[in-house]
Amino acid sequence: MIRAVVRGFGASLPKRVMTNRELEDLVETSDEWIVQRTGIRQRHIAGEGETTASLGAAAAKAALDNAGLVAADIDLIICATSTPDNTFPATAVNIQNRLGIHHGFAFDVQAVCSGFVYAMATADLYIRGGMAKRVLVIGAETFSRILDWTDRTTCVLFGDGAGALVLEAEEGEGRTTDRGVLTSQLRSDGTHKDKLYVDGGPSTTGTVGHLRMEGREVFKHAVGMITDVIEAAFDATGTTAADLDWLVPHQANRRIIDGSAKKLGIPLEKVVVTVDLHGNTSAASIPLALAVAAGDGRIKKGDLVMLEAMGGGFTWGAVLLRW
Ligand code: ACO
Repeated sequence: MIRAVVRGFGASLPKRVMTNRELEDLVETSDEWIVQRTGIRQRHIAGEGETTASLGAAAAKAALDNAGLVAADIDLIICATSTPDNTFPATAVNIQNRLGIHHGFAFDVQAVCSGFVYAMATADLYIRGGMAKRVLVIGAETFSRILDWTDRTTCVLFGDGAGALVLEAEEGEGRTTDRGVLTSQLRSDGTHKDKLYVDGGPSTTGTVGHLRMEGREVFKHAVGMITDVIEAAFDATGTTAADLDWLVPHQANRRIIDGSAKKLGIPLEKVVVTVDLHGNTSAASIPLALAVAAGDGRIKKGDLVMLEAMGGGFTWGAVLLRW
């Protein structure tokens, strides 16, 4: 049985760091309010020349180095993003070009903050279906470019960055002790489409638009949706919260992360949190958090790791894998 196994990880962040204090000069807010409501202390903001594709390509190169591979070894690139460099071609194709490869295929996945979980599920299917052997799965965003910097209810929450994994086909016995992706659980429900959206687009306004959100509504649904899909991943594999080594959640808000872990009975020592450093980087937040926790030695080969996310759409999902 073929499994999609993590072979390498990497990340890239814009040079510029913006603290909560700097935001106090832009909108009526305070470091105290932002930290208490969200856990965010700073975020990285893309500057001139830094785009979703440039950050994504840098994260991809870091993941290839970490895997001991070169771009020529890759046969599929999937980029999860809601802030592409252009409406088309796909950012993944732009990244393919920046990596200097012209074989295989590349495409984007758009599921907002759940994008990386959707991209992992997609990569896993391509690998298990035999259509790809080595896949770059990238989450890359420049949400700073779609924020309304006069709206304090949204502009304090987001940041820019990119993270990437290299997944590789490996023969396994089909046991939960084997390395690789064990299960993916994806959900969406478009009745919530107006609670978190961008008020522009090529087919409606002909503009890029700005992010709009009913924060309290998103918050209300988040913990229930996240915990449902994590429980589905445990059920599908015959594992439980007690078996888990690490929960790596989408980094939207500390209160959502803590609430979900508490409901599932997962101790906070097993939860990777980077929202304080990166803010909400949407589809990039999980691979950025993975790069931090695998980079500092917390996540080790053989660990059972749960990825989860919820975002605009709503979309939500979980991927359970053995690292
Ligand atoms: N600084 C100071 N005050 C603020 C700010 C700010 N940046 N933003 C809002 N306020 C004010 C509001 O105007 C309101 O004032 P009022 O009582 O006078 O009307 C007060 O703070 C409370 O506002 P609420 O919206 O009720 O605050 P809440 O405790 O719900 O926190 C937050 C807001 C942080 C957005 C929260 O609702 C949340 O985290 N929601 C989830 C949204 C999220 O994480 N989205 C990310 C994308 S989706 C995803 O990734 C899962």
